[in-house]
Amino acid sequence: MERSEWEVTWSNSLCVDVPEMDEEHRQFIARVNELNQAILESEDKATVARAMELMLSEAAHHFAHEEELLARWAYPDAAAHTARHAAIMAQFERVMKEFADTDISFVWALKGLRIKQLLVEHLLKEDMKYRDFLRGRAGSPS
Ligand SMILES: [Fe+2]
Ligand SMILES: [Fe+2]
Repeated sequence: MERSEWEVTWSNSLCVDVPEMDEEHRQFIARVNELNQAILESEDKATVARAMELMLSEAAHHFAHEEELLARWAYPDAAAHTARHAAIMAQFERVMKEFADTDISFVWALKGLRIKQLLVEHLLKEDMKYRDFLRGRAGSPS
């Protein structure tokens, strides 16, 4: 498997035009790529677990920060967005438990990649909605 196949490249198209969020997203993509690398290079379970824990704690921190901003902007879909964050975190925590219980490397590799996919999809689909909301607001006279 080529590493590039899984690697996520940061680009301007991922920017939500909010510097503090962009910075966290950028850092987050770097973590995701570190996790991929650990998985693809068949690092030991402890290394992959550490990368996943780091990703989990950064996701929790980022989600909380983002939710604070969504509330401050009076973003109309804030409740739904927050619910999606909670669903991702619940799934993430479930995977971490399953991960601890299995020693079959391809199983946790797939789980790790699935979590990565969830997080990246969330950025691409859901976070881009508030970018569009902010852009629309910037252009309106309110
Ligand atoms: Fe989000
Ligand atoms: Fe985000």
